[in-house]
Amino acid sequence: MSTTEPLKSRVSVRKFTKQPIPQEILKDILECGRWAPSGLNNQPWFFVTVTIRDLLEQLAKCTSSGDVIQQSTACIAVFLDMPKGYHRTKDVQTMGACIENILLAVHMHGLGACWLGEILNKKEQVCIILNIPVDRFELMAVIAMGFPNEKTNRSNRVPLEEIWREEKFS
Ligand SMILES: Cc1cc2nc3c(=O)[nH]c(=O)nc-3n(C[C@H](O)[C@H](O)[C@H](O)COP(=O)(O)O)c2cc1C
Repeated sequence: MSTTEPLKSRVSVRKFTKQPIPQEILKDILECGRWAPSGLNNQPWFFVTVTIRDLLEQLAKCTSSGDVIQQSTACIAVFLDMPKGYHRTKDVQTMGACIENILLAVHMHGLGACWLGEILNKKEQVCIILNIPVDRFELMAVIAMGFPNEKTNRSNRVPLEEIWREEKFS
C-alpha cells in the first residue's frame, strides 16, 4: 500500500454487520479525532458515542438517512462546544478536520463509516435525545459506524486538471 492509499481508499459505508465495535477501537478513533488541528488550538469538539439500540432508533428518526443509523452498531455525535469557539468559520473548519480524522481512523481500523449531515435539520432534537444542552453544544455531524457488510465502490471525483491551476516560473 502506498503512503497515501488509506486516504484515497476511504469510502462512505452505509451497510454494516451486527458485530459490535470493541471499546478500545472506539476510543482510538476518538483519540484520532482530538488530534485534529484547530484554530488557536482551541479544540472545540465534544463527542457522544451511542451504542444503545433504543437511542440509535431515536436518532434514526431524525434524518432521511435513518436506515444508515439503524444499520450501524455505533454512532458518534460530534458537537461544537460553542463557548470554546472564537471564529465561526474557523471553528466549523476545525470540526470538519476532526470529523475527517475520525473517518480515516475508522477506515484504518478496517471499519466503515458514513458522515451524516442531513440530520443537522433536526440538531436540537438530537441534543434532546442525547441529553445535551442545546445552548452550549451545536451538532456538527453524526458518524454512523460498524463493520462493513458490503463492498462499496469508490465514488467519482472531478479530474485534478479541472480544479488545479498551476502558477509556475517560466
Ligand atoms: C458534510 C457532509 C454531509 C453528508 N451527509 C450525508 C447524509 O446525510 N447522508 C448520507 O448518506 N451521506 C452523507 N454524506 C456522505 C457523502 O454522500 C459522501 O461523502 C460523498 O457522496 C462522497 O462519497 P465517499 O464518501 O464514498 O467518497 C455527507 C458527507 C459530508 C462531507
